[in-house]
Amino acid sequence: MNPFLLKGYKNPEYFCDREKEKEKIISSVRNEQDITLFAIRRIGKSALIHHVFYYLRKDFDCVFADIWGTTSLNGFINEIANAVIQSSVFSKRSISKKLTDFIKSIGASLSVGIDGKPSLDIMYHDKNQAFKSLEEVLYFLDNNKLPVILAIDEFQEIKKYNDSIPLEAKLRTIVQKCQNVRFIFSGSEYHLLTDIFSSFNKPFYQTTRMMELGKIPTNDYRKFILNHFSIGNKKIDNSLIEYILKISYQHTYYVQAICNYLYGQSKMPNSISEFDAIYYEYIEEKRVFYSELPQRFTKQQFSTIKAFARMGQVKSPTSADFLQLAEVTGASSMQRIMKALLDKQVIIKENDIYRLYDVLLEHFLKYVS
Ligand SMILES: Nc1ncnc2c1ncn2[C@@H]1O[C@H](COP(=O)(O)OP(=O)(O)OP(=O)(O)O)[C@@H](O)[C@H]1O
Ligand SMILES: [Mg+2]
Repeated sequence: MNPFLLKGYKNPEYFCDREKEKEKIISSVRNEQDITLFAIRRIGKSALIHHVFYYLRKDFDCVFADIWGTTSLNGFINEIANAVIQSSVFSKRSISKKLTDFIKSIGASLSVGIDGKPSLDIMYHDKNQAFKSLEEVLYFLDNNKLPVILAIDEFQEIKKYNDSIPLEAKLRTIVQKCQNVRFIFSGSEYHLLTDIFSSFNKPFYQTTRMMELGKIPTNDYRKFILNHFSIGNKKIDNSLIEYILKISYQHTYYVQAICNYLYGQSKMPNSISEFDAIYYEYIEEKRVFYSELPQRFTKQQFSTIKAFARMGQVKSPTSADFLQLAEVTGASSMQRIMKALLDKQVIIKENDIYRLYDVLLEHFLKYVS
């Protein structure tokens, strides 16, 4: 099998480093502190939570709820309830009575999907009823035999719910009451998460330990990559690994994607230029994803994106040279464009330097388009 996973989590063998972060989360959980884990997209938040679960699953029942794509309180509760029934809380034997009681208490209906997995559907007509069910779900976990870890991934989504409901206040009240449940909130939109957890006038103000996830250090990632290529009897030079880490800005998903592709080749490249030739084919395949890009942006936004692709990292987008390259006249126009591209998460700012968020897009525009 290809050791460079492109989604999810398997076991520690395919997971690089994160030792300090793992220990910190484990110690928080054991000391009954709730955590907020935040980081840029595709850096490894969700995988890290599963990694921690791997080590704690004997002592805790672990529930992982991903609320990405939910748009309302109703969707939120559905995801949490479904995560609960698919977790180890219910994977043990003689659960049927426990399960039916749970389903009844939250007013849900159960169906079994084609994959044989049970799923719940809950529809609320008013928010009090919904809050009541949310309480039921969490009090159910609070009464679980083993202590429970409930991870709510993409937690910033609750900020986008359109119904005017006091979810944060309600949730905080319930969370405070659950002695048997440790919460891990995680997400990627920094301003939304800080609004929830670091605003003085908000219910969750300083209720959790904030933890930012950075990049995997170069040395650790290099060793990890080298080790897996050598286990697979594939010869790869140290300098090529350095090169891959450099062109991907050590952004986890992109490192994985490039290594996964390279690992899948029957013949390993002997030089950087041989690698480039192989890699070009991979980037070329991305055309289907990126071909409609120009239509999604204004002309100037798109020419700025292309200028970013050519430069890689940009320290000062309003400098004369960059304005010229981007075919934008005037620093104030560029400021507007930058704001739009940052808001759309096309561009990311890392240590005061800007680059395209999507590394493969950078390479596509640079080498192929
Ligand atoms: N420490 C690691 N070692 C090896 N692979 C990892 C590691 N962390 C994450 N990955 C891999 O990197 C990819 C991105 O990880 P993950 O989905 O956890 O990121 P994320 O920060 O949750 O992203 P998103 O913001 O899109 O939810 C996945 O393919 C995952 O398997
Ligand atoms: Mg994730």
